[in-house]
Amino acid sequence: MKSDREDNQVNKRKLFENLFSEFQAIVMEGNTREDTLVNLCRLLQERVPYYNWVGFYLVERGNQLVLGPFDGEPTEHIRIEFGRGICGQAAERQKTIVVQDVSTQSNYLSCSAAVKAEIVVPVFKHGTMVAELDIDSHQLTPFTAEDREFLQRLCENLSVLF
Ligand code: SME
Repeated sequence: MKSDREDNQVNKRKLFENLFSEFQAIVMEGNTREDTLVNLCRLLQERVPYYNWVGFYLVERGNQLVLGPFDGEPTEHIRIEFGRGICGQAAERQKTIVVQDVSTQSNYLSCSAAVKAEIVVPVFKHGTMVAELDIDSHQLTPFTAEDREFLQRLCENLSVLF
């Protein structure tokens, strides 16, 4: 008898495998970058129950993030300087940041009181960071190594769009 946690991980692995194939199909459609990213945001938001806001921030002038395609509630954080909030810190460090409980963070930009956790994954093109994938969750402690690996794999495969 498997524990719930083990079951969840097996299910996540299956879900992410399917989503990765669907992601590849979306990229193969050859739409504009904007449309491809919107479709990807929608896919993730609709199919992963605890991904409640999914969006991209694009790097501008090497020190700012500008809101790009997203799926979820509109956000007031349209432009974020490097270093500010979780997104700005991920940009400064050029690393994935996983926050399992946003209430523990002092450098955090709130979009909605419903958000409990956040993961931010950078997208690189020839070694330069060009964008970030940002996901908010309404659940506490929702992200596992599977989420991080899946999202990093997606972002590695997004370089071709930039
Ligand atoms: N919470 C983010 C701001 C962007 S929203 O989540 C869409 C942050 O702290 O950088």
